[in-house]
Amino acid sequence: MADHAAMDGRLAWLTAVGLALALAALLGGGCSESENCPNCPGSPIVIERVQIFPESVTIGDTLRIWVTARGTDLRYQWAADEGRFLLIDRDFARWKPPANAVVTEITVLAYNDEHSAVQPIPVTVNTYVPRHEPTYTGAHYCGQECHSVSNHGDYFATWENTAHAAAYAGVEGDPYFNHDCFACHTVGWGDVNEDGWIRHNGGFDEVPIERLQGVQCESCHGPLSDLGGQILDDHASMAIGDFLLEACDRCHTDEGLVPPDAANLHAPHTEMLAGEGGYEYDREMSSSPHKDEITRGCVTCHFPTSADGNGHTFAADPTSCTACHAEANGEDFTWSTAMTEVADLLEQLQEELSRATEEDQRYLPYRWANHNATFAEKDASSGAHNYLYAKELLEASIEDFEPSGSR
Ligand code: HEC
Ligand code: HEC
Ligand code: HEC
Ligand code: HEC
Ligand code: HEC
Repeated sequence: MADHAAMDGRLAWLTAVGLALALAALLGGGCSESENCPNCPGSPIVIERVQIFPESVTIGDTLRIWVTARGTDLRYQWAADEGRFLLIDRDFARWKPPANAVVTEITVLAYNDEHSAVQPIPVTVNTYVPRHEPTYTGAHYCGQECHSVSNHGDYFATWENTAHAAAYAGVEGDPYFNHDCFACHTVGWGDVNEDGWIRHNGGFDEVPIERLQGVQCESCHGPLSDLGGQILDDHASMAIGDFLLEACDRCHTDEGLVPPDAANLHAPHTEMLAGEGGYEYDREMSSSPHKDEITRGCVTCHFPTSADGNGHTFAADPTSCTACHAEANGEDFTWSTAMTEVADLLEQLQEELSRATEEDQRYLPYRWANHNATFAEKDASSGAHNYLYAKELLEASIEDFEPSGSR
């Protein structure tokens, strides 16, 4: 019975192939006009994909567009209502936008002797039109629509007055300014989509539009909406769970910033907490148990709900210490003599470094000591993150470095 069915199937298949071949012979071509033979002469042209970079262009920048089309002997024609083409090379074009913010359209026509296909390509200049899902809306949306005074706490007002909200100011003027800064100083830069393509989120390419500047709700909670502006159902769950452990580390780290010298030390909080990243003088340095004891990452100590009700200042919270430190007073950090000790050591090292001559500064002992001083200074926790590591690094530097001016 099974054999019979298989035989029938094979017969049917053979007959179909025979018919197709006969038809092809009749038409005179090598194959038929079926969808199974897309690249055969006579097949309709299909524009399969348009790649566009950047996705939303700023005035003065240029846009690159590639089309991938199916068909034979293809030729292309490009047209734009505004702006002008700098280069057209078959399926590739470079386009310069006009000197004003617009939403416009570029059209590409793929054609051969028998067929043609037209593809309109919407283009935005200095205007944010999201192309990918999920997409970023910006904190003002979250604040105005939901997370204001009337709706579970004044999240927006709290955030608005923090350094996070202002994290873009100063970046553009920085001598090291480049696109890599955006990952930690804006919303939504550098996400990777399902195809592994970098998703620049359309909001900015040269510089971020104002709406996506700074560290905003979606930098930590993830993108809020779909392309139609509908809020994602699961967005409430983004406020809790695993994300906490990575929510801060992604940005509060020096990983990936090159070159990793003192001048470039940036935000080494993750490294200090873990007990790495200092110059260790080939010694075995100790590390505080905080990294093992603290199970909810930075948020364990930096989500001060007692102060304003929702913790979004992310200031270090004196009440959080009381869970583990009997001597903590819950009001400030003066109870910790260890923190005073580290602050004093840092001051002492900085004083020594300030006496270094120009000659000293050319040699490694100065650079090692300067690295550790900057590391501790940028960590800015006076040893609260990792008392033992900070203390031993600073002590080793004070011991090793001696400014020649003092001799
Ligand atoms: C890996 C994430 C990351 C990258 C990449 C990054 N930054 Fe930062 N940046 C931070 C964090 C976190 C802080 C906050 C440090 C602190 O408050 O202790 C910061 C602080 C700053 C500050 C100090 C802000 C102030 O007002 O004092 C400036 C300026 C700055 N960054 C500029 C830049 C520039 C320019 C680039 C690109 C060359 C850059 N950053 C790349 C994470 C990053
Ligand atoms: C720097 C990262 C960061 C930013 C920016 C941020 N959040 Fe949060 N948010 C968190 C973390 C972390 C928690 C969870 C804290 C916890 O559970 O202890 C949280 C919790 C929440 C919660 C749930 C709080 C609760 O009490 O259950 C809401 C709602 C929320 N955030 C909304 C917002 C809104 C709205 C903004 C922007 C105005 C924002 N967040 C900006 C990191 C951030
Ligand atoms: C998208 C990147 C990013 C994320 C995620 C992020 N931060 Fe920040 N954070 C920054 C930058 C940039 C600054 C510096 C802003 C400035 O000074 O201009 C900063 C500043 C701070 C400051 C200094 C605030 C002040 O008033 O001086 C604290 C504390 C802080 N972050 C804690 C956290 C904690 C805790 C988390 C995780 C819940 C977190 N951050 C997540 C980028 C980030
Ligand atoms: C054990 C509790 C604890 C943990 C965990 C912790 N911090 Fe801190 N952090 C502190 C204390 C305490 C200070 C010092 C505050 C002061 O002197 O006012 C501080 C200072 C800071 C500062 C500079 C001071 C400020 O508010 O501008 C930043 C930025 C910071 N921490 C970020 C982080 C980040 C990012 C993480 C996670 C990688 C983290 N902290 C983990 C307790 C902690
Ligand atoms: C989850 C528990 C836990 C929390 C929360 C916690 N710590 Fe600790 N901390 C420890 C443990 C454990 C040690 C090492 C044991 C010890 O020596 O007391 C330690 C050590 C320290 C040290 C080194 C001084 C010493 O005597 O070893 C300082 C400084 C410190 N913590 C500051 C803080 C501050 C400030 C906070 C609150 C912002 C805080 N810790 C919150 C568990 C915690």
